Amino acid sequence: MAEISINLPTDSYPVIVGSSLAAIAQRVEPSNTFIITDAVVARLHGSFFPSVPTFVLNHGEQAKNLSALSDIYTWLLNHNANRHSTLLGIGGGAVCDVAGFVAATFMRGIGLALAPTTLLAQIDAAVGGKNGLNLLGFKNIVGTFYQPRFVYCDPALLATLSAEELQSGLGEMVKYAIIDANGMFERMEQQTQALRDGNAEVMAAFICDSVRIKARIVSADEREMGLRRILNLGHTWGHAVERETSMPHGLCVSVGLEFAARLSVAKQLLFFSDYERIVALLRALGLPTAAQIDAAAAFATMRFDKKRRGAGIDFVLIRGIGDVFAETIETEELAKFLGLH
Ligand SMILES: NC(=O)c1ccc[n+]([C@@H]2O[C@H](COP(=O)([O-])OP(=O)(O)OC[C@H]3O[C@@H](n4cnc5c(N)ncnc54)[C@H](O)[C@@H]3O)[C@@H](O)[C@H]2O)c1
Repeated sequence: MAEISINLPTDSYPVIVGSSLAAIAQRVEPSNTFIITDAVVARLHGSFFPSVPTFVLNHGEQAKNLSALSDIYTWLLNHNANRHSTLLGIGGGAVCDVAGFVAATFMRGIGLALAPTTLLAQIDAAVGGKNGLNLLGFKNIVGTFYQPRFVYCDPALLATLSAEELQSGLGEMVKYAIIDANGMFERMEQQTQALRDGNAEVMAAFICDSVRIKARIVSADEREMGLRRILNLGHTWGHAVERETSMPHGLCVSVGLEFAARLSVAKQLLFFSDYERIVALLRALGLPTAAQIDAAAAFATMRFDKKRRGAGIDFVLIRGIGDVFAETIETEELAKFLGLH
């Protein structure tokens, strides 16, 4: 078991990796804890849950909408939840986002704990205190920063993920590997088959690597005023792809990583050989590097993305493995890159 600390100016909390979900009951106060989960996770892993009142969401992205909220707030009130209650989110990134938003807003903030059950949520969505809900088709357009008291990652839960959901997590993992300057990219290159197979030991090691990178960045910049922006690597184009297709988030990020790398080559920041290495790793993990989408529609989406600034769009570019930076790019330049002018 590993405990990785997220150190913030006002608080710090642990991300616990490698302990069984069955043991989470020891970390919460059963008489004042409420679980939010989804139907799939409840069916597969509900026997490990502490026995406390449990709200079951529709699974997946549909759960991340404002209309679901009033039912949850009402349910909490009906169960006499109070300002000292803890909301425990057990599920994928969608459940973690909903739990985070509800905990941040119910009675202006109650306790939050997260037990992510997908690879993507264990390495990303549950770590760092951001939450987001969707509106009018725009991803995560409403949300807050709200830190949990702890995050509890049991890699054994990943055994029930579909191949596609596992790959979705691997897309985000490659993002960390490109950001990392300490050899994570090389280690992933050496372990592509074990990662595709979901080998528990290898997976647990890379979950720790990913969480450590995110912990370091979030500890330095909780509110995404500077450094934290680099975690959006692959996401500007990735979100546009997500809106135009039905692919899971991490697969869209994979397409976005290829795009960011190709744009970096076009801007003469990245050697073509490094671009080829990034694409080769994505492909070796079975991840997509392109999507059949209407470039003009995706471009329009990107212009409305919340990362848009003035006349430009925020992008994270790559100078090399372990060397990325955020930059605002003129919309005209992007339109030209996409062959739209
Ligand atoms: N707040 C953040 O910082 C942040 C970061 C990254 C992603 N996200 C959000 O996370 C969401 C994506 O998360 P996700 O990929 O976990 O998707 P998800 O939560 O939609 O889960 C995907 C599917 O897997 C199922 N599932 C969950 N755990 C399972 C398990 N152990 N075995 C079998 N099936 C399981 C779910 O029921 C769902 O059907 C997106 O909405 C994205 O915007 C948020």
